[in-house]
Amino acid sequence: MNESCTVESGRVCVEVSGLRKSFGTSEILKGIDFGIRCGEIFVIMGPSGSGKSVLLKHLIGLERPTAGSVRIDGHEIDSPELLSKYRIAMVFQSGALLSSLSVGENVGLYLREHRIHPPAEINRIVREKLAIVGLAGSEEKMPTELSGGMKKRVAIARALVMDPQLILYDEPTSELDPLISVTIGQEIVKMRERTHATSIVVTHDRDLGFGIADRIALISGGRILTLGTPDEVRACDNPEVRTFLNASYQPPEEADRT
Ligand SMILES: Nc1ncnc2c1ncn2[C@@H]1O[C@H](COP(=O)(O)OP(=O)(O)OP(=O)(O)O)[C@@H](O)[C@H]1O
Ligand SMILES: [Mg+2]
Repeated sequence: MNESCTVESGRVCVEVSGLRKSFGTSEILKGIDFGIRCGEIFVIMGPSGSGKSVLLKHLIGLERPTAGSVRIDGHEIDSPELLSKYRIAMVFQSGALLSSLSVGENVGLYLREHRIHPPAEINRIVREKLAIVGLAGSEEKMPTELSGGMKKRVAIARALVMDPQLILYDEPTSELDPLISVTIGQEIVKMRERTHATSIVVTHDRDLGFGIADRIALISGGRILTLGTPDEVRACDNPEVRTFLNASYQPPEEADRT
């Protein structure tokens, strides 16, 4: 995978070394090291509050490390060259739609700002991407009229429109029903097949994570517990990893007996 890792091939790799992040006296990331290969789907999983969203924000330059570095194809994350050379899209956990714009305007914003296509073509692309996420015909709706799950799907359509080389998804299936979650998972995989975009997915959704990942990093307490292919992670005997992977709801009486 690595040999054709260039911006021209639409593939980028990411290197994270010695990444630490503190907010005040509280250290959230405690030394994170990993490399993401060009074109791979890299899934980051871990308990709530373990620092997944904070880590993801460092990978797109929205947070600055207290120590360590993030490089994309060898460029420091905050270098101006990086921003002019690469299309990087992020699907935020909250959706982060612009509330004063309609769904269609939100999805087409990047294309309009960059004047990449004439308006009729932009409308066609917007229609196509909304259909992919199961929201055909929602162009005129306003964000306030949408459920949480619909907002998330609009945010995914907005990222797809950029045809990004690197795409980051923060909890892409939270608030979505199981059928739409499966569609979104398939779309993440199809998107990688079509564009070779390197994809980083933060998720609690074990079915999604194990279903789409080339490799998975499990983090807890600001550190990586294990990193490997889905099979390698499934076989990991670290007790914390086992607890995370095996957690399942038990009716109260059964839980009392165990
Ligand atoms: N800007 C900030 N200032 C101070 N603390 C923050 C900030 N952003 C995140 N934190 C703290 O960092 C910790 C990790 O947050 P983060 O959002 O990365 O968790 P997460 O693993 O994404 O959780 P979830 O699965 O619930 O989304 C939390 O304790 C959170 O309160
Ligand atoms: Mg989060």
